[in-house]
This record gives sequence, structure tokens and C-alpha cells, in this order.
Amino acid sequence: MQESINYRLEQIGIIKTPYQNNAPYQPVDTDGGEFYVIINPEYVDGLFELGAFHYIYLIYYADRVTRKAEMMVSPPWAEGKKVGVFASRSPVRPNPIGLSIVRIKNIVENKIYTSGLDVFDGTPLLDIKPYIKDLDDKSDANYGWIEKMKDMEHLTLHIKGIPHDY
Ligand SMILES: C[S@@+](CC[C@H](N)C(=O)[O-])C[C@H]1O[C@@H](n2cnc3c(N)ncnc32)[C@H](O)[C@@H]1O
Repeated sequence: MQESINYRLEQIGIIKTPYQNNAPYQPVDTDGGEFYVIINPEYVDGLFELGAFHYIYLIYYADRVTRKAEMMVSPPWAEGKKVGVFASRSPVRPNPIGLSIVRIKNIVENKIYTSGLDVFDGTPLLDIKPYIKDLDDKSDANYGWIEKMKDMEHLTLHIKGIPHDY
């Protein structure tokens, strides 16, 4: 069996959202409320030229996960369907790392104001990367196993947290 190594990561900042307990399943671009990240002072120089991008990836530690990761999961919107944890976006995974793509609204000193986020207030930020046109857009991307679910169009509204009639 391959040796398993534990790694230590440095928190680079904190994510601020209006969500104390309930957050959308994925970021909602048009979400109201204030969403921003605060970067620790020692990392602020690393924001140079970031503001030239429209979108960024935020990579964070889902610090409020308490359940032990299981290899089979059932996303809350998936009507009981089970899939492997790595075929899901569940935060309850061996390394509870989350990834959200958000639009930059403004950068003021060590604060990046963004479009809506799907994380609880106070979530520790691990990294930021620019979302780069063509490099990150895959024109043949699909919905994977979600395509086989009946009522897929309705489910994708749930996944994206888009308000809709039931
Ligand atoms: C389905 S996950 C998706 C996260 C990310 N967009 C991704 O795809 O990796 C979003 C959910 O994670 C949960 N969550 C958000 N912040 C969290 C935190 N700090 N600790 C534990 N769970 C969190 C909330 O229930 C939220 O609805």
C-alpha cells in the first residue's frame, strides 16, 4: 500500500458571507448580501494584478464538517441517488476542501468583494487562483451522472440554488 503523508496548509485569509448556518449548494451569481474575503496582511502583495481578472477560484477549508467522510454519498438535491464522493461536490470528503468560482466586484486593500458564495461566514481561505478564459472553459463539459436523472433540468436549478417554482 502507498504511504500516506499528512500535509500542513497555511490559512491565507477568511471568507465573509451572510450565511451562519444555511448556504446555497453552489455560488449564486446574483445573490444579495455582502460577500468578501479578507486576506492576511502577509499575503496582500500576492493580490497584485488579480483585479485584472473577472473571475477567481476560491479554495477553502470546510471547517465545520463534523461527519466522517464516506465513499458513497447522496447529495441533498439528488432524491436519494448515491454516487462516489469523488463524483460529488459534497464538503464531507477525506480532505474537506471546497472550490467556488466567483466574480470579482472590487478589491480594496486586503479585501476582495465578490458575487455570491456558498460558504458559511468565517470559512478559512486556503488559496485564490484566477479563472482564465479558454484555459478554464471546457466547451464539451457535461452534467455527468446528473444527465441520467429524471427531471434533470429542475434538479440543476436546485444545484445552482436558482429560485424557481416547484
Ligand atoms: C455542496 S458544497 C459545495 C462547495 C464548493 N462550491 C465545491 O463545489 O467544492 C456547499 C455546501 O457546503 C456547506 N458548507 C459551506 N461552508 C462550510 C464550512 N465552512 N464547513 C462545512 N460545510 C460548509 C454548506 O452546506 C453549503 O451548502
